[in-house]
Amino acid sequence: MGVKIAVLPGDGIGPEIVRETMKVIEVLNKKFDLQSTWQEAHVGGAGYDAAGDPLPEATLALAKASDAVLLGAVGGPKWEPLDKPLRPEAGLLRIRAALGLFANYRPTKVHDQLLSASTLKEEVVQGVDILVVRELVSGIYFGQPRGIETLPNGEKRGYNTLAYTTSEIERIARKAFEAARLRRGKVCSVDKANVLEATEYWREVVIKLHAAEYSDVELSHMYVDNAAMQLIRNPKQFDVIVTTNMFGDILSDEASMLTGSIGMLPSASIGEKFAMYEPIHGSAPDIAGQDKANPLATILSAAMMLRFSLGREDLADKVEQAVELTLNDGIRTIDLAQPGDTVVSCSGMGDAVCQRLEGLA
Ligand code: IPM
Ligand code: MG
Repeated sequence: MGVKIAVLPGDGIGPEIVRETMKVIEVLNKKFDLQSTWQEAHVGGAGYDAAGDPLPEATLALAKASDAVLLGAVGGPKWEPLDKPLRPEAGLLRIRAALGLFANYRPTKVHDQLLSASTLKEEVVQGVDILVVRELVSGIYFGQPRGIETLPNGEKRGYNTLAYTTSEIERIARKAFEAARLRRGKVCSVDKANVLEATEYWREVVIKLHAAEYSDVELSHMYVDNAAMQLIRNPKQFDVIVTTNMFGDILSDEASMLTGSIGMLPSASIGEKFAMYEPIHGSAPDIAGQDKANPLATILSAAMMLRFSLGREDLADKVEQAVELTLNDGIRTIDLAQPGDTVVSCSGMGDAVCQRLEGLA
């Protein structure tokens, strides 16, 4: 009965932000008839510590047997000396690949209550509502060959491969066009077609697909360097941005700062069969275990999970509403705090959201 969630807290602040999010899920179970059950498993450094593998077999099996995966964050200095395949990040990349999560949706929505928390001028960021659709299981993150080698002259060389096939480009572009149809109808495809063949081809495929099936959507193209500039010059020009794995990684961090804190941005990673939800921020080892982290990105990721994987759009709306009400009341974790705000801990923020959510019952 009900829906099954695989919960992977991971490392650093992961366990704290996930704990607060599961409090929210519990309120939904008790007061809103969500009927969910969940099971926790290790990933990242926690996976290495528990099972010698950043993606233990049992974790992947649990993920595959669940309706959705909720992940906190991975990584930390403790595991940096390990061989690359044993590092926490390798676990994250493997679970994305193993579940076929090719489309990573990273919405950046500026909350009016947080306008003054952005480092940019209010008139630049007010009303920003961008969806970055990042390709997640190919590109330079996964391209072969890759490695660090020693050349005949004794010098060492590190190298990676950037490559995209037609079908990989088509499936991510399709997701972007479809998302745009439900939004403001605009897609900007970001590439470096003036220099890199892989993205020259990316542009060619996007143009063809657009002409064949999505000509109702307004399509534009931008080089990534220009896009990085335009995102802070005039972010309101963007609706949906579709781009490669690495450009999407970089541009989504940049876009998060329009909202005032990277601690606000949720994400959904979707494939043909599986889906995983995680905040876009990292494990923040510097504040881990101090009950200081902002759990809102994870709570908002759970809202995306309710909407896209658990068939509960109604509850997704309620969670988002509870977050809005909390922000309206001036409640902030330290990353967002401005003079006059009520500064709360990570658990304090979780409690505040739960309280307002219960009020919506
Ligand atoms: C992200 C992160 C990851 C990535 C790291 C932790 C491997 O930065 O999800 O944006 O680069 O994809
Ligand atoms: Mg990143």
